[in-house]
Amino acid sequence: MTSWWKDAIVYQIYPRSFNDSNDDGIGDINGITEKLNYLKTLGIDIIWLSPLYQSPNDDNGYDISDYQAIMDEFGTMAEYDLMLKRAKELGIHIMMDLVVNHTSDEHAWFQASKQSKDNPKRDYYIWKDPLPDGSAPTNWGAAFGGSAWEYDEKTNQYFLHLFSKKQPDLNWENEAMRQDIYEMMRFWLEKGVSGFRMDVINMISKDRHFPDGKLLKTGYGDGSPYYFNGPKVHDYLQEMHQEALTGYQTITVGEMPNVSVEQAKKYTGKDRQELDMVFHFEHVGLGDGELGKWSPEDWSLIELKAIFSTWQEGLDAVGWNSLYWSNHDQPRAISRFGNDSEAYRVRSGKMLATALHMLKGTPYIFQGEEIGMTNVSFNDLADYRDLETLNAYDELVGKDLLTNEEMLAAIHARGRDNARTPMQWSDEFQAGFTEGTPWIPINPNYSDINVVAALEDENSLFYYYQQLIALRKKYPIIVEGRYQVLYPDHEDIYLYKRVLDKQELWVLTNFSDKKVFVDIDVTLAEGQCLIANIGKGIKQKEASIELEPYQAAVYLFDK
Ligand code: GLC
Ligand code: CA
Repeated sequence: MTSWWKDAIVYQIYPRSFNDSNDDGIGDINGITEKLNYLKTLGIDIIWLSPLYQSPNDDNGYDISDYQAIMDEFGTMAEYDLMLKRAKELGIHIMMDLVVNHTSDEHAWFQASKQSKDNPKRDYYIWKDPLPDGSAPTNWGAAFGGSAWEYDEKTNQYFLHLFSKKQPDLNWENEAMRQDIYEMMRFWLEKGVSGFRMDVINMISKDRHFPDGKLLKTGYGDGSPYYFNGPKVHDYLQEMHQEALTGYQTITVGEMPNVSVEQAKKYTGKDRQELDMVFHFEHVGLGDGELGKWSPEDWSLIELKAIFSTWQEGLDAVGWNSLYWSNHDQPRAISRFGNDSEAYRVRSGKMLATALHMLKGTPYIFQGEEIGMTNVSFNDLADYRDLETLNAYDELVGKDLLTNEEMLAAIHARGRDNARTPMQWSDEFQAGFTEGTPWIPINPNYSDINVVAALEDENSLFYYYQQLIALRKKYPIIVEGRYQVLYPDHEDIYLYKRVLDKQELWVLTNFSDKKVFVDIDVTLAEGQCLIANIGKGIKQKEASIELEPYQAAVYLFDK
């Protein structure tokens, strides 16, 4: 084992929604510090912090106006340093979010850049002349609605923003800009952070020909072939590694929409000096329809398994996988992939955790996942905060592409605010998150689903996660074993094994609400049951095993 983080588990904190220490309704740094012991109890090694930097919060901190200052609402740099110190004392590493595809339009660089065409910072961003008829340089749509270009009257040019118009894209062709980014990264590493989660990092290199994209239903063009995995992205990442990471003990993960396993081999290849791993989007994109996640369609477990198998096999021995069911951009895991009914919430949550944590790679837990938080269904649009959701509502309902009911249903199923309702600490006022008014309403189910209840119940999801984490530390086969899928074409169950030397680890999970019978060629009683979400494990009669709805168990065999 070469890398220090190979057997580590990462826990993601979305600071705004984690814990509010001063009752202004917004989670903050001191709130995180207060809960470090809780995370230590869970057993995690690394915390990934969603952005804490100075930001006008158009996109909740993913629009940064100063990379080296803390957002006022979250606290001070001194409080940050204290949190880092406390975490270290507990043996917990901190991983920062690195958002360098774009900045806020309120960043000093952009403020200077828009002053004039000859400003020294002009070229830090991507400016282009209007077409002869005055229209935008390309037909590309932005991820958060509207055109990807915004016109600036003062200098009579457009600037590119692949996200909101308050998130202008940085120009990675500019050497001085790149050096400023590397210097900023070293500032954080010098403080003692242990790495970065890199926001949409496969979008930093654009095709400089700026072709139009295929027209979409929204009326805008799909520019994605021209800015994902662009011509110089590997050069930039190798340079970044060389200039900013060398000499530090880091862990890095690149967030990459639209990445294939073949491309990921390059990004994570052991001898290429780019990144340790990537977040791909294939499983979380299952069922995306013509309007993406806003027109969800049915998907099957067979597809999900094929995705996991492709990535497990593809990166084996070449790179490394990151493993996740959810994050701050995704619906809650149990609602999306399991069953959030009262009868099956906890059991299916344990099943999902088993299926994921026994794979080869680094597991990521998103805050609240460990207590089985679920999606929320606000019926009033006014209760939603996410600009992506609100802009998509205006665009899609506004253009009659979806009805109000269809859009609300899609928001309930897939909207980002599902992940962003506050962490449910107790059944007390505002779920123990704040004594004030939370910036987004609490999920009303906090009276049943909360940390206090989970800690009091020895059969809770929390302790199950704790057990899974402990297993990874104890059994090298979970870290290193080769993956082999069984029954790839079965519609309801996901069975796979991991193989290391003379050992085999069998992972048996039922993703359906039905009882399933299937034959296997081992006798489970001859193995050791490492963990199970129902009683002592799975019933077997001769070759045939019987899997209860959402049952999961893991067996270790010494052959
Ligand atoms: C990433 C972040 C998301 C953000 C977007 C733009 O996808 O995870 O929250 O809105 O990038 O920065
Ligand atoms: Ca606060």
